[in-house]
Amino acid sequence: MSLTEDKLLEQLESFVNNDIAHFKELTQKVIRNYTKKSKRLDKIVKQSDTQQKQLITLHKELDEYKNHLEDKVEDSLKEIKDLNREIEDTQREVIFTMGAIGESRSKETGNHVKRVAEYSHLFAVKYGMSEEECELLKQCSPMHDIGKVAIPDAILNKPGRFTDEEFKAMQKHAELGYEMLKHSNRTIMWAASIVAYEHHEKYNGKGYPRGIAGEDIHIYGRITAIADVFDALGSDRVYKKGWSDDKIFNLIKEERGEHFDPKLVDIFFEHLNDFLKIRDSYKDNFEE
Ligand SMILES: [Fe+2]
Ligand SMILES: [Fe+2]
Repeated sequence: MSLTEDKLLEQLESFVNNDIAHFKELTQKVIRNYTKKSKRLDKIVKQSDTQQKQLITLHKELDEYKNHLEDKVEDSLKEIKDLNREIEDTQREVIFTMGAIGESRSKETGNHVKRVAEYSHLFAVKYGMSEEECELLKQCSPMHDIGKVAIPDAILNKPGRFTDEEFKAMQKHAELGYEMLKHSNRTIMWAASIVAYEHHEKYNGKGYPRGIAGEDIHIYGRITAIADVFDALGSDRVYKKGWSDDKIFNLIKEERGEHFDPKLVDIFFEHLNDFLKIRDSYKDNFEE
């Protein structure tokens, strides 16, 4: 081998060695980079795992919260409903008590207002009024004589017949009741004010206080009128014996289109048994 060849070979070897070293260095760099990146990837995967777990937990918590919220809303709704019922019951009780106070002043019994309430309800149902109105009339018809709380004792408790003047003073109870109740904007009070005002009006226009006739008298007034008279006639009082059924039925027939709305008289006789059933279930007990 000549010197030149040796040199060439040496040079070639050095080139190859250099390249190998360079290649090694490159490979190591790539491996380092790869390891670094793979570690970062691992970290990212781990992080996303944790995030996923956190998401699942959050989702669960949200679900639980939603259920809790639903329960809470349901509970609150129930509470509101209970409260509403309580308010309505209280209203009914107050109204009923006011009615009973009115009746106690007029020498009637507590059961009189109960019966009038039931009769009025039955009339309203058969007349074709809505369920809501039937209930309303049942609640407020016991208030028909509430104005009597403002009538002087001397007149209210007078035994025997009234003078014309006393009778006029007594008749004032209708207007007085109306005046007491008309300012309220509660439906039940408004309805009760009509009942108080118009329960002594007659279909033929000969009643009081205004002498209005026919359907100018509110149906609440027309119904309470017949319910009140039917009950008052048949009930025993300290000062009078109750009428016999025949006598009562005859009067109601005679007053068809006079004192009473003819349609209501027809309803009364068509459903007489139901009315008598109500009378039987709320009998007066004088031994109380
Ligand atoms: Fe009355
Ligand atoms: Fe009455």
